[in-house]
Amino acid sequence: MGRLGTETAFQVLARARELEAQGRSVCHLEIGAPDFATPPHIVEAAKEALDQGYTKYGPANGDPELRKEIAAYAGRLRGVTLDPDGVVVVPGAKPVLFFTLMALVEEGDEVLVPDPGFPIYASVVEMLGGKVVPCRFDERNGFALDRATLRRAKGGIFNTPHNPTGGILTRGDWDAIAALGLEWILSDEVYSEILYGVEHFSPLALPSLRDRIILCDAFSKTWSMTGWRLGYGIMPRPLAEQVTRLQINCTSCAATFSQRAALAALRGPRCEVEEMVRTFRRRRDVIVQGLNAIPGFRCAEPKGAFYAFPHVGRDGDALARRLLEEAGVACVAGSSFGPAGKEHVRFSYAASEETIREALRRIRALLAV
Ligand SMILES: Cc1ncc(COP(=O)(O)O)c(C=O)c1O
Repeated sequence: MGRLGTETAFQVLARARELEAQGRSVCHLEIGAPDFATPPHIVEAAKEALDQGYTKYGPANGDPELRKEIAAYAGRLRGVTLDPDGVVVVPGAKPVLFFTLMALVEEGDEVLVPDPGFPIYASVVEMLGGKVVPCRFDERNGFALDRATLRRAKGGIFNTPHNPTGGILTRGDWDAIAALGLEWILSDEVYSEILYGVEHFSPLALPSLRDRIILCDAFSKTWSMTGWRLGYGIMPRPLAEQVTRLQINCTSCAATFSQRAALAALRGPRCEVEEMVRTFRRRRDVIVQGLNAIPGFRCAEPKGAFYAFPHVGRDGDALARRLLEEAGVACVAGSSFGPAGKEHVRFSYAASEETIREALRRIRALLAV
């Protein structure tokens, strides 16, 4: 337990709620949850599922109809054919990370982990006795992967589009990763459908890597379903069997009515998702422009996901604390994502344009003092 980390965004949210309970106003730019309603056809499908009796345990690895649909959908997006028997449905993307790392990481294993990166990667690898080997990004080049920092290791965790930077991994990056000869690659693609005019490249499209990839994806971000707790991993069958065994030991199965709603998400209209991405793009432009206008700040333009990760020209921990306590702007210190984030702060723009503009005004006012 001493080695297990956390996700600071949840702690910031708790403190922000305390301040609100004291009557303070807070602009919430800390948590990575789209602020849109879940599309209505998905909510309707869940209601119908409840009426039809999807209120009991289901198969441990997921509803067979959903697993088949996931394999077809995820394969279509990436231009490959995927095996439904490699799909395991779990309560969110986090259990995909947790279960697969539990199955794969042995004491002393070196694992490539992005720095900065989603904090749960390093947390779980270290809890399991693995050794984190950081790979870095070039902020001045839109947070492109710094290939010079790639190292040979047992396994690697990668995330594209990337939280917290909004950068993406290109075909060339994946070729460089493939050349490392890693035994396994966990590819976290939860933001793969939130992109601004660029193409998603998944390592599943590289035949040389196919049998070593674990794809991690979820319904959380694309369909604004963070509270439904539903995600999936797509992996080689022997690993899928082990992950299913872990799921039996831990959660038994993902919620059965959520899984029926997920079928409606995969099969239903795309208009709400497209509208969400258009809205995120407008907000991105507002926040990036606003942050770059603040003296001492430098913000690369995110290509995907919904986070801005400016270099703030000072200690990010102290600034994030002051922003919340003194200005009522909730954000996450860059160091929460790894040592390379020390002089950064992460702002989630999964908030209304009005909230973003008010937050920018408060930041300017605080720093003008
Ligand atoms: C990169 C990344 N992976 C996984 C997750 C977890 O997603 P879920 O809520 O589906 O567990 C998040 C959530 O913020 C994330 O940013």
